[in-house]
Amino acid sequence: MNKRREFLKTTCALCGVTLASGSAGVWLSGCKTLEKPAEESGFAVRDGLLKIPVSAVAAEGSVIQAHGLSRELYIHPNADGTFEALLLRCTHMNGKLNPTPEGFTCALHGSRFAKTGAVLKGPAKEPLKKYPVNRQGDQLIIQVA
Ligand code: FES
Repeated sequence: MNKRREFLKTTCALCGVTLASGSAGVWLSGCKTLEKPAEESGFAVRDGLLKIPVSAVAAEGSVIQAHGLSRELYIHPNADGTFEALLLRCTHMNGKLNPTPEGFTCALHGSRFAKTGAVLKGPAKEPLKKYPVNRQGDQLIIQVA
C-alpha cells in the first residue's frame, strides 16, 4: 500500500465522520473504501456537472471523489436542507487536505480549515472554494465548472 493511502486510512480513522454505506465513489473517513482507487469511483463530472444521490451524503458530510475532479469534494447538508460542496484543495498553494474532527488540515504547510471552508489557521488566507449545489429529487447536481 502506498504512503498516501496509508496516510488517508490513518487520518480518516481519526476523523470520526460517519460512513454512508452502499455508494461506490464515496470516500469517507473511517471507511474502507478509502483504499479504492479513483478509477473505481462511480461518479464522474460530465458537462461541468457532478451528479450524486442525496443518500451518498452523510448527515455530517461526506468526502466524494469523482473522475474529472483534481481533488475530492466535501459535501454536507445545511440546517435549512440545502447542501454545500467544498473543494478539498488548500487555498495557499493547492496542497491536499486531509479530514480532521474539526475540518481539514493541509499537509504541506499546516493550514487548517473548518468544515464550512473558513480558514482556522494560516498560512492560507482564503476560504475553500465552494461549488453551487442544486437538489433535484433524490439527486444533488454540483456545478464544478
Ligand atoms: S499549501 Fe496548504 S498550507 Fe501551504
